Amino acid sequence: MVNAPPVDINQIKKIINDYKDSQWPVMPMVEHIQDEIGYIPPQTIPMIAKAVGLFPSQVQSIVTFHDQLYTEPRGKNVVRVCRGTACHVRGGKAILKSIKGRLGLEDGQTSEDFEYTLETVSCMGMCAVAPNMTVGKNIYGNMNLSKVDKVFKKSEG
Ligand code: FES
Repeated sequence: MVNAPPVDINQIKKIINDYKDSQWPVMPMVEHIQDEIGYIPPQTIPMIAKAVGLFPSQVQSIVTFHDQLYTEPRGKNVVRVCRGTACHVRGGKAILKSIKGRLGLEDGQTSEDFEYTLETVSCMGMCAVAPNMTVGKNIYGNMNLSKVDKVFKKSEG
């Protein structure tokens, strides 16, 4: 098993310092840390708490309350596949199966090399071009199995 990528504590200290004097500093801090690192490393919780005058348990509560904040390392490429009804009836199930097989991952898992995390979502809000998936910030609509091949050849190449 490959270890999670190392965390640059100085980078985190700088982010904390940039926000610590703002009126509501915790959310912008943790969002920025996640943008840079990909998740909120556990060792950052006491650092944030100390900077803003909260208990670590209070910061932890904020982080765990929000579904969009992650406390575990994630892959460089987060692959999201829609499992909503519109996508399902237009072939989404086969697309998800193909991606699971290709990446060797189940929903919610991250590859050992931290290259990919696979997630499913209940709707991406673009049912008109179902079935849909995203890889990082790239959005792919009207998906089919041959397009899945192209998407992953591109991201691997
Ligand atoms: S059901 Fe997939 S985008 Fe809405």
